[in-house]
Amino acid sequence: MTDKIRWGILGTGHISKKFADALAILPEADLAAVASRTADSAKQFAEKYKIPKAYSSYQELADDPDIDVIYIGTPHTFHLENSVMCMLKGKAVLCEKALTINAAEAREMVRVAREQNVFLMEAMITRHVPLMKKVQGWIADGRIGEVRMVKASRCARGEFPPGARQLNPDLGGGSLLDVGVYVISFASMIYQKFPVEVIGLSHIGDWGSDEQGVAIFKYDQGELADLSFALRTAASNEAYVLGNKGYIKIDDVFAVPTKATLVVNKVEEAVLEEPIVGNALNYEAEEVMRCLRLGLKESPFMPLDESIQIMELMDRIRKPWGLVYSND
Ligand SMILES: NC(=O)c1ccc[n+]([C@@H]2O[C@H](COP(=O)([O-])OP(=O)(O)OC[C@H]3O[C@@H](n4cnc5c(N)ncnc54)[C@H](OP(=O)(O)O)[C@@H]3O)[C@@H](O)[C@H]2O)c1
Repeated sequence: MTDKIRWGILGTGHISKKFADALAILPEADLAAVASRTADSAKQFAEKYKIPKAYSSYQELADDPDIDVIYIGTPHTFHLENSVMCMLKGKAVLCEKALTINAAEAREMVRVAREQNVFLMEAMITRHVPLMKKVQGWIADGRIGEVRMVKASRCARGEFPPGARQLNPDLGGGSLLDVGVYVISFASMIYQKFPVEVIGLSHIGDWGSDEQGVAIFKYDQGELADLSFALRTAASNEAYVLGNKGYIKIDDVFAVPTKATLVVNKVEEAVLEEPIVGNALNYEAEEVMRCLRLGLKESPFMPLDESIQIMELMDRIRKPWGLVYSND
């Protein structure tokens, strides 16, 4: 590995642009190549971000021997195919959330990573924001006692042009995979275990995808999680971690937090406030580079088995909805 870690970006959509901005503030990151399905889009992206190599096929990026790690910024239905293509060429992969469409795909992606002995991580930004790690410190130190309940919301009211990825079932669109994954992953991060009982309800909208949903989990010691997610419903996106001694409120937007308050006996005992550096995606890129330098094949902050279990949980939640994706 050279001094700098050589990144490639696969796909030139919304989040790939933000990821290119994120890499630009990291001195140890070298954004060396971008790939698109079309030459024009690759060229425009490369010009904008001053990237030396622009490929008009994803395979060319996977084949490039001078790339260490590839960021996958495509719709959910392509994550498995795109990631496997790169890993089979020995590349480390940072794949956008949700890791895949379903648990079977997630297991296959992780199987390939382990077989190829390459690094793989689901890009779940919440896990890497410094303030969230401090919140976890409060919980580990027993400041709120035993965690008994988690409440979290990740809702937004978007305007989507016809066919847009976010609600398009053919691209794995819908609130569960697009934003529900944040609250489900949050509950998993807090409890470090998976529920024994799961209830999920959704509204399937005119596009045939889930516009909004709620999920309630019950864990083996009676702990609960109360989660909501939506793409056409406005909300304030706080999270609460409620213990038998006190509680923590994480302000909107909890998934990329800047403020958290610890309340014990109805008294504000501590407040954490910390601005986001960059656009936050730099935190997950830094974690990938830290792991690569240490020779780790997965991140302790977003373990691969946990990403698989989160997909299993999402399969379980949507089964009663009759929601089936083309890849299922
Ligand atoms: N972490 C976050 O904050 C965050 C925010 C938004 C989205 N995301 C995640 O990022 C991923 C991409 O979301 P996005 O909003 O960036 O999507 P987007 O703007 O639609 O971009 C997706 C890109 O994927 C490529 N692509 C390949 N096959 C495609 C197809 N059949 N239809 C459409 N695009 C195709 C296209 O790039 P080329 O044309 O260059 O090939 C396209 O520009 C999703 O997994 C999403 O959940 C994460």
